[in-house]
Amino acid sequence: MAIASIPAVAKVPPNRMKVLLIGSGGREHALAWKLAESPHVSALYAWPGNPGVAQLADCIDGADVMNFAGIEKFAKQNQIALVVVGPEDPLAGGLVDRLTAAGIRAFGPTKEAAQLEADKWFAKELMRHQSVPTAEARSFTDADAAEDYIKRHGGAVVIKAVGLAKGKGVTVAYRTSDALEAIARIMRQREFGDAGARVIIEEKLTGPECSILAFVSDRAIYVMESAQDHKPVEDGDVGPMTGGMGAYSPTPMVTDATLSTIERDILVPIVDGLVRDGVSYKGILYAGLMLTMNGPKVLEFNCRFGDPETQPLMMRLQSDLLETMLAVVEGKLDQAKLKWDPRAALSVVATSKGYPGSYDKGVPITGIDDADAIDDVKVFHGGTRMIDGKLLTDGGRVLSVTALGDTIAQAQKRAYEAMKKIRFEGMHFRRDIGYQALRPA
Ligand code: AMP
Ligand code: GLY
Repeated sequence: MAIASIPAVAKVPPNRMKVLLIGSGGREHALAWKLAESPHVSALYAWPGNPGVAQLADCIDGADVMNFAGIEKFAKQNQIALVVVGPEDPLAGGLVDRLTAAGIRAFGPTKEAAQLEADKWFAKELMRHQSVPTAEARSFTDADAAEDYIKRHGGAVVIKAVGLAKGKGVTVAYRTSDALEAIARIMRQREFGDAGARVIIEEKLTGPECSILAFVSDRAIYVMESAQDHKPVEDGDVGPMTGGMGAYSPTPMVTDATLSTIERDILVPIVDGLVRDGVSYKGILYAGLMLTMNGPKVLEFNCRFGDPETQPLMMRLQSDLLETMLAVVEGKLDQAKLKWDPRAALSVVATSKGYPGSYDKGVPITGIDDADAIDDVKVFHGGTRMIDGKLLTDGGRVLSVTALGDTIAQAQKRAYEAMKKIRFEGMHFRRDIGYQALRPA
């Protein structure tokens, strides 16, 4: 009988699906690299991707991440089973809401939930309400009032544009004159546009920083391995803020006990507060923290993977990224168990001359293949562009060289050795990524 010929344990073929990744940075290259490894991915597309992503996915060159109608149409026409949204702008603009309404699965929080990053005052109020430790802060919509407050307050303060500013909207001001200058730039000259219609002036905290990223699906939280970013443009953490000049994982500053405290006192109450307010949060919740003498305190939340933290984290992730993302979207995250490479990973970002200010594009880049050929090294593209077979710079953060090592010191050595092979005119990178983990106690 036909029935008898069916094997007792039929091997279920993996559910193969097409995935569309939104974004074009180093973070997206690292996500694409990990997604492409998944046996469940039958085809990977990137909107718009970059030349590094193009080695793994079909890139829609020139596509705009804010072209929601175009993304929806493409996803429908190509039977995309999951859209993965990398950057904050489309999340804050409601891309996930739109796709979900159209019956397309998307990874990332809704517009309402993404306010946690897009509106720093929304985040502050939620933290206050949930007694989440963070810097004391005041908010101002009037530049005169902000200036008055600074003059009366004196001392070091931190000035933040409340809206999205590509990681550049924060000034740590040690002198009153620097604080006033920041107000002039953000509120009067509107350097960041409407993102600067309101500013937060907060107390300056001290201590080492860390980035803790978690997969969140409403009340379910999976905390990833710890990481540390390096935001200022120059060695020793001086100079203007950037989107991030390098990162590594894990960071010895975050012990298991600290990680538990962060989950219990920060992530859980935030997620509880959102659920209580009827806000569904599904995606990545990224807490930028300062480890102060009085415990971890929140500097900011992001509603997406960090760039460059994602590069070392993806180097270390051994589990299937697509499965985890689907678990988030389908509300099955409580069953997720992820495996991480016990080794350390460290990523160094190379930037264009002038970044985070204005910079030139179109400068030829050489040596990526040689760097990539080194064992346990991966070069992730960021702002690059291929024209007539030539690789050119096309952004501020051009690429990130990421290496694994048995120790952070070894990962660092390997990353810098690989960086030596890469050249472009005006290339800048920090030479001290990981220094806080390596300096003698
Ligand atoms: P944010 O984008 O809010 O994380 O701020 C960017 C960077 O500014 C952080 O990574 C810190 O280095 C610094 N920063 C932000 N808030 C504070 C604060 N309250 N005290 C000291 N440094 C801060
Ligand atoms: N690395 C900082 C960020 O992604 O915002």
